[in-house]
Amino acid sequence: MPTYDALKTADADIYNALMGEMTRQTEGVELIASENYVSPAVLECMGSVFNNKYSEGYPGKRYYGGQEYTDIVEQLAIDRAKILFNAGHANVQPHAGAPANMGMYFALLEPGDTVMGMDLSHGGHLTHGHPVTYLTKIFKFVRYKMKDIETGEIDYDEMRKVALAEKPKIILAGFSAYPRELDYAKMKAIADEVGAYTVADMAHIAGLIAGKALRNPFDDGFDVITTTTHKTLRGPRGGMILTREEALGKKMDKMVFPGLQGGPIMQMVAAKAVAFGEALKPEFQVYARQIITNAKHLAQYFMDRNVKLVTNGTDNHLMLIDCVKSWNLPGGEVEKLFDRIGITLNKNMIANDARPPMDPSGVRLGTPAITTRGMKEAEMETLGGFMLSAIEKRSDDAAISALHEEVKTFCKKFPVPGIAK
Ligand SMILES: Cc1ncc(COP(=O)(O)O)c(C=O)c1O
Repeated sequence: MPTYDALKTADADIYNALMGEMTRQTEGVELIASENYVSPAVLECMGSVFNNKYSEGYPGKRYYGGQEYTDIVEQLAIDRAKILFNAGHANVQPHAGAPANMGMYFALLEPGDTVMGMDLSHGGHLTHGHPVTYLTKIFKFVRYKMKDIETGEIDYDEMRKVALAEKPKIILAGFSAYPRELDYAKMKAIADEVGAYTVADMAHIAGLIAGKALRNPFDDGFDVITTTTHKTLRGPRGGMILTREEALGKKMDKMVFPGLQGGPIMQMVAAKAVAFGEALKPEFQVYARQIITNAKHLAQYFMDRNVKLVTNGTDNHLMLIDCVKSWNLPGGEVEKLFDRIGITLNKNMIANDARPPMDPSGVRLGTPAITTRGMKEAEMETLGGFMLSAIEKRSDDAAISALHEEVKTFCKKFPVPGIAK
């Protein structure tokens, strides 16, 4: 593990903040569904001298000299990503998930074209057409939703009707707050009827697909997958665009650079290569399955105790609690309460939420990070118990402080990768 001696000498303020963050991560439970802990090897790449290199272009076709080692790492990242997701082409340069989506949209669309994505209040992401994004000034976004929020089933009949009427150029699968599997084959059939591209933004579930615990949209003929690399995939913060066919991949390459970005962040590309190498190992498949086992177990623990989950369960790594129905509390208050006992999650809109976006009815939580720490079904019950105790004892400050101490003691048994014990 690095000692951070140079940082301590050079900048005490940042050093102290870093030490504080390490303690927070070590002593707390991370239930934010989009977060994870990377391996020490991934961390080492991110703090490496690859940062010092400009590498505009792609392996073998750069605008600057001195690329013998950057070419090796970027080519390895590409090759490993292609194997991991059974893709024809991979662009590993997008700086994050949002720029990956931007690259994909700009490569496939003309201004004024229509995209059909999941309704944001039913789980879709900001970059799928939230009115606050600049994307909505350029493209038109139409929506699909759940037919039944008790099961989470998507209304594919309505999706088809809207697609026939609106003729979208992209049908977009993917979400950041939806706990069920999508029927990619049905979406592909609708897209084929209207001549639309099929794109899956699998930012949240990429690790579950790489680990073969969830279905790969390419197996149902999807054209493009965009993703982040830092959530379930357990790599550095970053994005990636994959295509099933090489020809479409070339379009993505042109749009990412020079279309949108400048030089790739090469230390992150190196870290992506390492993370993809880790994900290709059989242990990663065990990890991916355990994430889902843990999520299902925690969901069942809650439901057995009258906690109302949106769609009444989960098929993936995340779940949404309807806090108003469960405890007559808004999500924001529950987020703050769990913060006080060292358990971190986020308030979240739930489908057809009666409350406003900044003060929604739900919280979202997920199991990727705690599964990385080695927690299994028994620990899901311990954590569920901590959370329900906090709800019950919320007006008793001493009891909440005592619970926080219990959480810290519990966390000590599960070291965080990359942080010395
Ligand atoms: C489905 C989806 N797409 C895109 C993004 C954006 O990723 P980033 O925050 O890396 O830009 C996210 C992040 O939450 C996401 O959940």
